[in-house]
Amino acid sequence: MILDIINKKRLGMKLTYKELDYFFNGYLSGDIADYQMSALLMAICINGMSDEEVYALTKIFIDSGDVLNFDDLPGIKVDKHSTGGIGDKTTLVIVPIVAACGGTIIKTSGRGLGYTGGTIDKLESIPGYRIDLSDSEIEKQVRDIGFVITGQTGDLVPMDKAIYALRDVTSTVSSIPLIASSIMSKKIAGGSDKILIDIKVGNGALIKNREEAKELSNLMKNIGKFYDREVRTIISDMNTPLGFAIGNALEVEEAMDVLKGKEVNNPFVDLCIELASDLVSMSLSISFDEAKEKVIEVIKNKSAYNKFLELVKRQGGDISKLKISDKTYKIKSDVDGTISKINALEFGKLSLRLGAGKEKVTDKIDYSVGIKLNKLIGDKVKKGEVLATLYYKKDIPEVKISNIYKFD
Ligand code: URA
Repeated sequence: MILDIINKKRLGMKLTYKELDYFFNGYLSGDIADYQMSALLMAICINGMSDEEVYALTKIFIDSGDVLNFDDLPGIKVDKHSTGGIGDKTTLVIVPIVAACGGTIIKTSGRGLGYTGGTIDKLESIPGYRIDLSDSEIEKQVRDIGFVITGQTGDLVPMDKAIYALRDVTSTVSSIPLIASSIMSKKIAGGSDKILIDIKVGNGALIKNREEAKELSNLMKNIGKFYDREVRTIISDMNTPLGFAIGNALEVEEAMDVLKGKEVNNPFVDLCIELASDLVSMSLSISFDEAKEKVIEVIKNKSAYNKFLELVKRQGGDISKLKISDKTYKIKSDVDGTISKINALEFGKLSLRLGAGKEKVTDKIDYSVGIKLNKLIGDKVKKGEVLATLYYKKDIPEVKISNIYKFD
């Protein structure tokens, strides 16, 4: 049976629910070995899956663990997910905005993956901030203040944890059906009514081109329909880091600047406004344009910023203790010109080498280190002008400017 199933997928045939269930649950229970699951994952990666197979796999993933139910809570609960990027701190900005607009948002977030940072790591840079709220604590907090950002609770989709770890080391992460079932199973098990997915495309993202992003978008919307959940998607650029900051405490600081209205009219702020408007529109059942007016207003009148402070306090954090390293190194331009490209992936690698993420599971993150861009795409610079500042702790990693920047 095991070999028959691998062989069927190797030949590009469809697997039934029963076959997928047998194989994936067999893996979780230890009856199917890593090398056999790796072979099936690679066959899926190469030959793809039909929509029916993806629905079946998503169900098998959801059924592998707890499913949260927040039906007793008032309001339409919304959730948002990003496929991951460099400097992606949008959650820290948009969740308080949605709450300030009167929406209800239960956001369960994850840790960094590869070069991309995770919201939970960023929040842990705030001393005391609790990322391990229980289901009943989540419920109480949502009743009291309308929103929460916490780590994944309980035993939500254990199948994804096991399969993701294997995909990570077998070069099978980038399969569209596998990404779709991984993300959608977690979002559906998370108990929200409506879901927004930010699909990142570019060299700093899992998805490298727009065609694949559209395919993933359609597939996730179809899974949503199958499970009676409204799913909206946004396809956004990840060739360039998002915003000015990369690294945990630095990104929290930047998120606060956006909420205070200090940063305006840059691609990061624009994306936050778009995502937040979609979420508010979904949670309050109003048009996107109406929602956008509310979003801009709560940034202007600082109520979104105050919601952020309320969130941090409620979850035990002390924002006054946020620490950014005082050791800095300035990357200076070696030419005169206009910046035409800033390579997100190279900055992701650099931030990892500074210690802002984990290269090995056993590594410890240094929350105080990272990178701040002093210039963005389109800025004119003179030779010797500062392009970016590294915040380091131990060593300054080697920086090859020509790998990161292109100038016109
Ligand atoms: N994020 C996920 O949660 N799963 C994937 O497979 C890819 C990105």
